[in-house]
Amino acid sequence: MARATTTFTCSACGAVHTKWSGQCDACGAWNSIIEEGPLSAAAGKQSLGAARGRAITLTDLSTQDPPLPRTASGMAELDRVLGGGLVPASAVLVGGDPGIGKSTLLLQAAAQFANAGLKTFYISGEEAAAQIRMRADRLGLTGAKVQLAAETVLRDILTTLDAERPDLVIVDSIQTMWSDSVESAPGSVSQVRAAAHELTAFAKRRGSAVILVGHVTKDGQIAGPRVVEHMVDTVLYFEGERGHQFRILRAVKNRFGPADEIGVFEMTGAGLAEVSNPSALFLSERGAPAPGSAVFAGIEGTRPVLVEFQALVAPSPHSQPRRSVVGWDSGRLAMILAVLEARCGIPFTGLDVYLNVAGGMKISEPAADLAAAAALLSAREDAALPPECVVFGEISLSGALRPVVQTENRLKEAAKLGFTSAIAPAGGKPGGDGGMAVKPMADLTAFVGEVFGAG
Ligand SMILES: Nc1ncnc2c1ncn2[C@@H]1O[C@H](COP(=O)(O)OP(=O)(O)OP(=O)(O)O)[C@@H](O)[C@H]1O
Ligand SMILES: [Mg+2]
Ligand SMILES: [Zn+2]
Repeated sequence: MARATTTFTCSACGAVHTKWSGQCDACGAWNSIIEEGPLSAAAGKQSLGAARGRAITLTDLSTQDPPLPRTASGMAELDRVLGGGLVPASAVLVGGDPGIGKSTLLLQAAAQFANAGLKTFYISGEEAAAQIRMRADRLGLTGAKVQLAAETVLRDILTTLDAERPDLVIVDSIQTMWSDSVESAPGSVSQVRAAAHELTAFAKRRGSAVILVGHVTKDGQIAGPRVVEHMVDTVLYFEGERGHQFRILRAVKNRFGPADEIGVFEMTGAGLAEVSNPSALFLSERGAPAPGSAVFAGIEGTRPVLVEFQALVAPSPHSQPRRSVVGWDSGRLAMILAVLEARCGIPFTGLDVYLNVAGGMKISEPAADLAAAAALLSAREDAALPPECVVFGEISLSGALRPVVQTENRLKEAAKLGFTSAIAPAGGKPGGDGGMAVKPMADLTAFVGEVFGAG
């Protein structure tokens, strides 16, 4: 029998190390590695089950199953991210920063699902029942048929769930649950995993849907939601900037629908309001065309979304100029700056560079390269881009522009919001489209010449 040893687990990504170190070499997080005791003998026995197994049943791939009986909440933004509604027996993880609005979202969702006919339980290990009722009161949900409990002992919770058989259980949060099959503190990697395992097992066993809330933590003592991502069917992240009212629910994994789908909400005093036209919201703060601004026609999941890239470029007082980026990838920014210098002869040495995606949106599409480059150039040259113009295209290391997917949808959305022209990679759709004048560009040098004169 293997000797019971302690392990060192990264609480951010779950990677297991043989010894402690200050930085996790799997995910790069600092001070995230914690020592964990061995699994208790009881847990080992439990997971192995009976010594003699039974024969399993095999089927072929052609067996016709009825379509998944999904339940829609009626919150269109949530239903779309779930892939068309909640699937029975599925486990969903909703991760997000502390205070971003997870409990608000899920209490609203709970009320909606209860109204749609699901027997819905909301179990909180974070707040007292009175606190949740106060929130319900503020959100105008006191009439909803949601069953509430403030509890952290998983065994008691599961006993109740097995007897009551709800259709939907929301657990807020997975980090506060305590499973007696593991000998470590609540919030540790092994506790969080054990609790997630037992709750997903319950979902499969009873056909209930389970939604787990997970806090994204910077504190090494509490495991982050990433350590249970592989155990659940669907992983959603609730994102947003503190100072902004926009909130984005993003599917990063979905066994029952497309990933990368987003739902957009606005945090109001009366709770989260759905935003059915996010482009209009993201562009609402945009003033007259100004240097350093470029509107990116992006695609999030199945939906086109326009966002503004803002850049500021200024002489740097530092020997090491600043490179600051919010809402986009900093590695990608470094690449664009290198390409501008090497292929177009436009250096940013000695200049501080700030790049910002307006509205607190996070963009990961490579198609945003050209919008970022356009904003940077526009800021550096102190020249505004053509008015009512959207920009998209992927930039390669050679400076060539690569065509991107769903050109037509991007143009349609731009036209809908009153834009009249687009700068896009050559080789996509040429000519006008839906009233849009499209300027195709082969490479970044052509773009610089066309938009900023000789460059
Ligand atoms: N009385 C109020 N009026 C308006 N907005 C409020 C009010 N109370 C809370 N909020 C909003 O709700 C947010 C907190 O929401 P919620 O408790 O759902 O977040 P959470 O992600 O569950 O947080 P936690 O990490 O504490 O569990 C606050 O940041 C604030 O924006
Ligand atoms: Mg909460
Ligand atoms: Zn790690």
